Amino acid sequence: MQKLKLAMSLRFQLLGTIAIVLLGTLLLAAWLTYRHALNKIETEMVAAIGVGSRIAHNAVDDVEEVVNPRRRLELLVADFDGDRHLKAFIIEPNGQTNVQSKIGADESEAPAWFENLLRYDSKPVVLPLPDVFDGFGKFALQTDAGNEIGEAWSDIQLFAKILAFFCASGVAVTLYILGRALKPLRLLTSAFHQIGTGNYTPRISEHGAQELVELARGFNQMAGRLASAESSNKQLLAHAETIQEEERIELARNLHDEISPLLFCVDVDAMSIRRIAERADDEAIVGHANAIQSAIDDLKENVKGILGDLRPSTLHALSLKDSIDDLVAFWGARHPSVHIEADVNRDSWGAKIDDAVGSIVREAVSNSLKHGTPRKIAITVSEASECVALEVRDNGGGLKCPITEGGFGILGMKERATKLGGMLTVEMAHDKSGVVVKASLPKTNEPERAKRKNEFIEAAVS
Ligand SMILES: Nc1ncnc2c1ncn2[C@@H]1O[C@H](COP(=O)(O)OP(=O)(O)OP(=O)(O)O)[C@@H](O)[C@H]1O
Ligand SMILES: [Mg+2]
Repeated sequence: MQKLKLAMSLRFQLLGTIAIVLLGTLLLAAWLTYRHALNKIETEMVAAIGVGSRIAHNAVDDVEEVVNPRRRLELLVADFDGDRHLKAFIIEPNGQTNVQSKIGADESEAPAWFENLLRYDSKPVVLPLPDVFDGFGKFALQTDAGNEIGEAWSDIQLFAKILAFFCASGVAVTLYILGRALKPLRLLTSAFHQIGTGNYTPRISEHGAQELVELARGFNQMAGRLASAESSNKQLLAHAETIQEEERIELARNLHDEISPLLFCVDVDAMSIRRIAERADDEAIVGHANAIQSAIDDLKENVKGILGDLRPSTLHALSLKDSIDDLVAFWGARHPSVHIEADVNRDSWGAKIDDAVGSIVREAVSNSLKHGTPRKIAITVSEASECVALEVRDNGGGLKCPITEGGFGILGMKERATKLGGMLTVEMAHDKSGVVVKASLPKTNEPERAKRKNEFIEAAVS
């Protein structure tokens, strides 16, 4: 019940309330009209009998003038012809009523149910007449409420018409006023929807009724604060990323400055030892010196890898297209039986998108090779109107159902996409022939990344 009440629109609730009030008024008015009509009929009937009796008495009180009593009685009855409320008649000595007056009929005739509702039971009133009329019949009067009921019926019809007009115009005016009053609420609802989707730009014009102006003002303040909170959040996030990046660069620099020179020294020393041992023709020492040099080479590679992890944006100074081509070549050399192809229709979409796309492609291809045993992997990166679309499709064994838990790859790919305001899905291909990873990342205004060589790393490890 509570849910139903909440679900009803304000307009419906107000109209319902008005309808209930009008119905109540109608019922009360009908009851009062009914009571009034009953009283009126009774009063009219009593008054009519009184007036009728007086008329009859006046007509017959001068007994000397009565030459023909029977005729006089009949004339008296005829005097009441056309009376709207009274019927006069002569009760014959044998109890019959042969002579009676005609009731004056009204135009309006009430329906039977209404007549039954206001029925007024009247009994004939026999008027005492002077003795001269004895033996010629008795003069009687009886009320007839028919005309009075007809009048009440006309009044009620008129009343009902006025009430119907009042209700119709009341509802029409209410609908009009409600429509105007609720318009700002409709605007407010749609503005709240937009706020809910993360768009804090809508504002409501602050004019109209006092309450609505305050509502609009409150909304505008809230939207303004949300917008500024979002912008400071973004700044904070960017700041945090910058600090993180700076810390990583600092670490990379330390690693480079502290470790690389030492490696270089050890390499040079090992080379010297090898030369001396070659001169002394000591093969055992030459072998050890070579082993040290090869270990140093491995160490250099490892340091290069660590530096690359710490400074990914520097390491990926290549364009996105080139780095994906590199990735394809790298995996192709290790999995010659798998045909890996890439179609990237632009060099770069800015550092953030490039980094995200690069990482997603790396993880998606690695998943295909690790879990799917495919014969073919196709990478596509293309530009749509508002976003960069990425797809990595393989024709391997497909996803196990449910996806094995415990891995972080898919989670990481999704996080990267959502962090940039995009989305990523990992699904079976429609024809069940493998797995499709699809991502859509909104484009940023970030300027294209300049192609720059990682001289720092090259210098560090050369
Ligand atoms: N291309 C694919 N073909 C078949 N199965 C896949 C593919 N990609 C993902 N999966 C399934 O989804 C699971 C989750 O992948 P996810 O990358 O999250 O974790 P992982 O690769 O197992 O581990 P991690 O990536 O953390 O090293 C995998 O274990 C695998 O079962
Ligand atoms: Mg994985």
